[in-house]
Amino acid sequence: MRSTGTTITSTTLGEPVRAFVPHPLPPADPPLAPESFAAANHAAEMALARLAGVAGLVPSVDWLLYSAIRKEALLTSQIEGTQATLVDLFDEEAGFTVSNTDDVEEVTNYLRAFRLVQDSLREPAGLPISVRLLCDAHRLLLDGVRGQGKQPGELRRSQNWIGGTRPGNAVFVPPPPERVPDLLAGLERFIHDGEAQPLPPLVKTALIHVQFETIHPFLDGNGRMGRLLIAALLEHWGLLPEPLMYVSGYLKQHQKEYYRRLSNVRTEGDWEGWVAFFLEGVALAAQEAERNIVAVAALLAQDRRRLLASPRGGMASYRLLELLPMMPRFTIEQVRQKLDSSFPTASAAVKVLADLGIVSELTGQKTHRSYSYVAYIALLAG
Ligand SMILES: Nc1ncnc2c1ncn2[C@@H]1O[C@H](COP(=O)(O)OP(=O)(O)OP(=O)(O)O)[C@@H](O)[C@H]1O
Ligand SMILES: [Mg+2]
Repeated sequence: MRSTGTTITSTTLGEPVRAFVPHPLPPADPPLAPESFAAANHAAEMALARLAGVAGLVPSVDWLLYSAIRKEALLTSQIEGTQATLVDLFDEEAGFTVSNTDDVEEVTNYLRAFRLVQDSLREPAGLPISVRLLCDAHRLLLDGVRGQGKQPGELRRSQNWIGGTRPGNAVFVPPPPERVPDLLAGLERFIHDGEAQPLPPLVKTALIHVQFETIHPFLDGNGRMGRLLIAALLEHWGLLPEPLMYVSGYLKQHQKEYYRRLSNVRTEGDWEGWVAFFLEGVALAAQEAERNIVAVAALLAQDRRRLLASPRGGMASYRLLELLPMMPRFTIEQVRQKLDSSFPTASAAVKVLADLGIVSELTGQKTHRSYSYVAYIALLAG
């Protein structure tokens, strides 16, 4: 059996614990056999290429990105137990009152962290994928109520553990804190040393996610940071021109298997099993994103046809319809700002769409009304 690390004894909370220190990537003795991943890797790369192709056929890729990034933010936070929904997130962005503000904050924090990483990777002078960039992103991820006391933006300085009530009875005890900086430096080298690592980028991404979770460098937020790292690596290696895929949907759906396969790398040396699971997830997530794009485009086309066929449609309502995928919950004032029109113009445009049943009013009030693009939200949430 292949060994993926060594177990060392350290003392925490006055009792000896067996902490796991992973070997540097890639897997060795034996190395990953190309036959074990070649077909699945090819299928996953093809699925990503198709997704990129389909996205290119849609009038505005911003629509697709708007929803895909939010779905990833939501699903990755739901793995952590966040109760927020897509509607909560849209409501928060529309300035409506949401009840579970802490949950929604976690999701919006993920969005901020993700944007920071993406901007940084796209700016010529920005930081590459690095410990510093991950710490900066972590600071945003754990900003606010829940992150307080969890050392946002800092590598941990104490021993942590996964499962159990204390390190002594934990499922897994990650490396002692003093080993974390070196282990992360090794991971950083693996990411950037392309020539020495001829593995396909998706396979490397799979390995890197496990290594990150095994190091568990932060006090909290390691799952979300490790999944953000997946998105960052897709960007870094140009596997997808835009972050259109939400792989956390697959990981959430198979959460038990996800955790079990992470463990099996450590306990059984089973890298192949994890890589196969991950590649399958990428292929399925890409296919799902593709189906979603087709469905959104079809819905918009159908609503556009109805609007164009209506004698009451006009320029303002046409423009409003094209804005809806990026503001599915809204007020008339927000429409007025986006259209840069008068209030009566905005109000009339909304009324046209409401009378056609494309959008629905939510409050039943005469003033302070708010609206929803119901069919679109149902599609995304489905
Ligand atoms: N047995 C395991 N071995 C290694 N890593 C694991 C194991 N079980 C879970 N993990 C990883 O640890 C993460 C949880 O760690 P942590 O609580 O620091 O992250 P989080 O982002 O706050 O939580 P979450 O993953 O629940 O969103 C899981 O998401 C998973 O990626
Ligand atoms: Mg957590």
